[in-house]
Amino acid sequence: MDDLLKIGVIGAGAIASKHIRAWAALASDVRVVAVADVEFPRASQLAALVGATAYDDNATMLDNERVDAVDICVPPHAHVEIVTAAAARGVHVLCEKPIGRTLAEAQTIDEVCREASIIYLPGHNTLFYPTLRRAREIIDRGDLGPVRVVQSWDCASDVSSSRLGAEPPPQARLAPADNWRSQPRLAGGGALIDGGFHAVYRLLYLIPTKAVEVTALFGRFHEDLGWASDDTASVAVRFDGGEIGLITISYSMDILHTGQDRLFAIGARDGTLAGDGTTLLYRPIGWDVPAQLRLSSLPSKAAWERTFVDQASHFVGVIRCREPQRQTTADALAALRVVTAAYESVATGRHIQLAG
Ligand SMILES: NC(=O)c1ccc[n+]([C@@H]2O[C@H](COP(=O)([O-])OP(=O)(O)OC[C@H]3O[C@@H](n4cnc5c(N)ncnc54)[C@H](O)[C@@H]3O)[C@@H](O)[C@H]2O)c1
Repeated sequence: MDDLLKIGVIGAGAIASKHIRAWAALASDVRVVAVADVEFPRASQLAALVGATAYDDNATMLDNERVDAVDICVPPHAHVEIVTAAAARGVHVLCEKPIGRTLAEAQTIDEVCREASIIYLPGHNTLFYPTLRRAREIIDRGDLGPVRVVQSWDCASDVSSSRLGAEPPPQARLAPADNWRSQPRLAGGGALIDGGFHAVYRLLYLIPTKAVEVTALFGRFHEDLGWASDDTASVAVRFDGGEIGLITISYSMDILHTGQDRLFAIGARDGTLAGDGTTLLYRPIGWDVPAQLRLSSLPSKAAWERTFVDQASHFVGVIRCREPQRQTTADALAALRVVTAAYESVATGRHIQLAG
C-alpha cells in the first residue's frame, strides 16, 4: 500500500462512475481510498465498489485521508473551491472539464496550483483517443502540408441519458430544468461550455498555432423544455497561422454524418484527414479512396471509456515523473478563452479578438 498513490474522488455522479472504473483498472499503481459527495448516499454507493471510505464533506475527507491526489467530478460551479482546498494541502488535481465557469475562476485555479507546486491535469479525456494523437503526428510531420480548415464536432448522438441526469425528454436529450446543466449560473453557460468544451480543446490540439478571433451563432431550439442557454452552437475560430476552425456542438440534433468523421475533419493543402475515436480516414490529394487506419479494436463506447483509463494512467505517470504532462492549465485556459469569446460574440453580435 505504501507505494500506491492514494486518490480521493470528489463528486459521485454520472462521470465519477467512469473514473472509479478507470482507477480500478490501475490497481497496481493507485488506490481510491475515499469518495466524497454532498449527497452522502451517492458517495457511499461508489465508495463501496472499491472499498473506500465515504464522506459528505470534502474538507473532512482531505484532512482525514491525506490523499496524494484528488479526482474532481463535481459540476463546474464547485471546481475552483475544491481545487483551492486541494492545493492548500499540497494535493495533486485531476479535474473534469471545464476548468471553471469564468476566466477569473480559471486564473485562480492556475495561480493556486502554481503557488502550491501541484500538478493540475484538466480532464480533456478525448485527447486520449489514439486517433487524436495520430492526427496530430501526421499534421506535425507535414505529411498533408499546412492545415487550412479543421472541423470539430460534439453532438447529441454522443450524449447519453445518464450524462444528462434523469430520464431526458424523448424529443431531445437535454437535462431536466433542476439539473445543474440547465442552469447557466451553475454550468457557466449551455451546451457549448458543457459538451462543447470537448470540441473546443480538440480543435486547439489539432491547430497548434494561436487562436486569435472568435465568431459564434447559437441555436436555442429547446427553450420550451426549460433549457435556458444555448443547446446548439456554431463557432468559427481564426488562428494566427491563417487556419480556420469550425466547431459544431448540439444537444438538439445528431451529428451531420458525412462518413466516419464524427469528431473531427481536417482539410490541409495536400489532402484530408478525418477521425472518430477509433479510426482515421487519410486521403492525400490524388488518392481515389482514403486509407482507413483502425487504431483501436474497441467498440466506440468502450473506446470512450478507455480514454478515462489512459487519462488516469497519464496522471499517475506525470505525478511519478515518468512522462511529460500532455495538457496543462494553459491549455484549459485557452479553451475557456474561446468559449467565453463565443458567448461574448453572441451577446454583442461581433467578432471577438482574443487578447495577446
Ligand atoms: N469527460 C466527459 O466526457 C464528461 C462527461 C460528463 C460530465 N463531465 C464533467 O464532470 C463533471 C460532473 O458531471 P456529472 O455528469 O458527473 O454530474 P452529476 O450531476 O451526475 O454528478 C455531480 C455530483 O457532484 C456532487 N456535488 C455537487 N457539488 C459538490 C460539492 N461541492 N462537493 C462534493 N460533491 C458535489 C453532486 O451531488 C453529484 O453527485 C462536470 O464538470 C461535467 O462537465 C465530463
